[in-house]
Amino acid sequence: MPASLNVASVLGELSLEEKASLCLGSDFWHTAPIPRLDIPAVAVSDGPHGLRKQPDEGDHVGISGSLPATCFPTASALGSSFDPELVRRVGEALGAEARAQGVAVVLGPGINIKRSPLCGRNFEYFSEDPLVSGELGAALVDGLQSQGVGASVKHYAVNNQETDRLRVSADVDERTLREIYLPGFEKVVTRGRPWTVMCAYNKVNGIYASENRWLLTELLRDEWGFEGLVVSDWGAVHDRVAALAAGLDLEMPPNLGVSDAEIVAAVRSGELDEAVLDRTAARVLRLVDGAPGGVPDVGEEAGAQAGFDADGHHALARVAATECAVLLKNDGALLPLQPSAGDTIALIGEFARTPRYQGAGSSQVNPTRVDTALDELPGTVPAGVLVEFSPGFGIGTTTADDELAAEAVSLAGRASVVVAFLGLPDAEESEGFDRTSMDLPTNQTALVSRLAAANPNLVVVLANGSAVRLSDWEHHAPAILECWLSGQAAGGATADVLTGAANPSGRLAETLPLRLEDNPSYLNFPGEHGHVRYGEGVFVGYRGYDALRLPVSYPFGHGLSYTDFEYADLTATLTGNIEDDSLAVAVTCTVTNTGQRPGKEVVQLYVNDPESSVSRPPRELKGFAKTATLAPGEGQTVTFRLRSRDLSYWSVRQHRWVLEGGTFRLSVGASSRDLRLTTAIEVSAPPLPVQLDGMATLEEWLAHPGGSALLREVVGLDEHGRPRGILGDEELIRVIGNFPIRTLAAFPGLGIDHATVNYLLGRPQW
Ligand code: BGC
Repeated sequence: MPASLNVASVLGELSLEEKASLCLGSDFWHTAPIPRLDIPAVAVSDGPHGLRKQPDEGDHVGISGSLPATCFPTASALGSSFDPELVRRVGEALGAEARAQGVAVVLGPGINIKRSPLCGRNFEYFSEDPLVSGELGAALVDGLQSQGVGASVKHYAVNNQETDRLRVSADVDERTLREIYLPGFEKVVTRGRPWTVMCAYNKVNGIYASENRWLLTELLRDEWGFEGLVVSDWGAVHDRVAALAAGLDLEMPPNLGVSDAEIVAAVRSGELDEAVLDRTAARVLRLVDGAPGGVPDVGEEAGAQAGFDADGHHALARVAATECAVLLKNDGALLPLQPSAGDTIALIGEFARTPRYQGAGSSQVNPTRVDTALDELPGTVPAGVLVEFSPGFGIGTTTADDELAAEAVSLAGRASVVVAFLGLPDAEESEGFDRTSMDLPTNQTALVSRLAAANPNLVVVLANGSAVRLSDWEHHAPAILECWLSGQAAGGATADVLTGAANPSGRLAETLPLRLEDNPSYLNFPGEHGHVRYGEGVFVGYRGYDALRLPVSYPFGHGLSYTDFEYADLTATLTGNIEDDSLAVAVTCTVTNTGQRPGKEVVQLYVNDPESSVSRPPRELKGFAKTATLAPGEGQTVTFRLRSRDLSYWSVRQHRWVLEGGTFRLSVGASSRDLRLTTAIEVSAPPLPVQLDGMATLEEWLAHPGGSALLREVVGLDEHGRPRGILGDEELIRVIGNFPIRTLAAFPGLGIDHATVNYLLGRPQW
């Protein structure tokens, strides 16, 4: 490959057919080469939590068989770390493996919002909150691209379910798009500058994402300044020419001999401006030019031995998994385990021996190795402690196995402590379909009560990629550790957390509701007849549970530690002003470790606008920070910086962010429902512009200082000095004050007639 391509001059040398060929891959995983000009093909590969590089031939649907690579914790787990720096390191390692295997672009991260706990692909996504998704997505892109490998942030946009995913239209209002489903992408694009963006399969408000000019060009490029390449999700293109015109560059997998011919014909017939094709061809050339210089597309054998630090990456995967584990409850400080010689720890559940650590579908990694808790735990406990195992249940079935269960209960009865490894089986969560319930299999939940009866010292360790219901069994278990799908080193990481070698610092990036029916999207998921209506609007996840004041099992942001933290000295200092967009709020607080062990806290900053003219969630996360490891007694000052947009809502009237003046409450705490300190700031902002026309209501006229004064002047006073007609009758204003002023003009006796309205509307200021 030439060291640096002169794109403009190469473009000039390409025939129409060659340019069209660049708009498609040459096979499942490669861009098209132009051998005549020494332009090579470059390889792309899944993503997002490990590499899935298929050997040269691959299988024809591109799913099975890939070269060994490190399986890092999935996004469901990484989301719970609330730790951009950690995610960046995972991205770096992923990038190094991609480079070693000759991959130019890794297809990830996936940053779609977890709208419903049922989405089959939730394990590939970070959070129900756009700030967490955007910050962690940007960090992964940053780490990955620091290795000279490109990212492909996906699935753009509003791909929040698997049901009918290639056809369904996600019907979402403009405010909800701007406040919930797009900010994560905006942050990753503007901050992380990914080389590529992958468009989603679905339609957004009736238009395929792959043909959606508003998404692919107006928003992505014109508003957010994206300069990279847009690649289709695999099979997302339906009308190649419309997609190209909308801003879709690379079609994957290539519809060879069809899509390229359509592009050529469209240019020849004048339907497609050749300049559009040139732009796309240039983007592909720039991608090829930026790809790892001279790295060959390695084959299977070379890949198997490819030079990356497999041990180092495995160690990183283990550390990362410990940072992601969320200690949901720990009654009586049952954890960390503190066994002494002669004690027996009962490990129960097939998952202790056959761990579930990743999900199925295009993200499935062929791991370099897999740790199990069964192998790892014995090495982390003192000599003389016995670790015994009993599978308790089968994982390919929901039917209880009486013999296995009885054996597990008997082991529990003679052990000092029981650690039950429960989770969702492979078949329950995967790309391609959604779940239909949040429940764990009944053969597992039935066992929990029996284990608890045999031994009250029961710890449950969970492995699942999306939220499961706990409310029907959790009272049996004094301690629960949620490990998500935590990658190939999950077994060792779990052992580290159980024994206290690591102090859990993961926090929930999604709410765990009491029941599925409480989820805000419940009545509108997964839609029907080709449409899914996002009826809950901006009230997604905790925004909805909090607004409805619903009790939940565990709130967003929750997670315990083996130590305690105290919050103090919350300050908020407002500077600048709205007019020149210099408004900023510096928020600080101090967090001190008041317990006995070193640990990290995730400090969360929530904003509340109690006086908004639109309906807003009671709390919105606008900042988070994971502290350093604090020794007992040690404190750290955490600082957040908010901008005007962090206090604003998206106005569907003005099609822009609007900041309304007034009081804002800022709270810091350890979850959306554990706010430790709150302060308030007063923001002054110009009043919202109101369009005072004939359809503005009487109340709107009266609420406007100028409009009200003019109206009162025109209507005038009666002989007693009181405002005439309706303006002197508060009761009547309450009843018909919401009529447009033009309509009131037709009602006799109100003091407002057509001449009044015409006069008002004729005034130049209106
Ligand atoms: C998935 C993408 C993936 C692609 C390539 C699609 O089915 O939706 O996330 O990157 O396949 O495997």
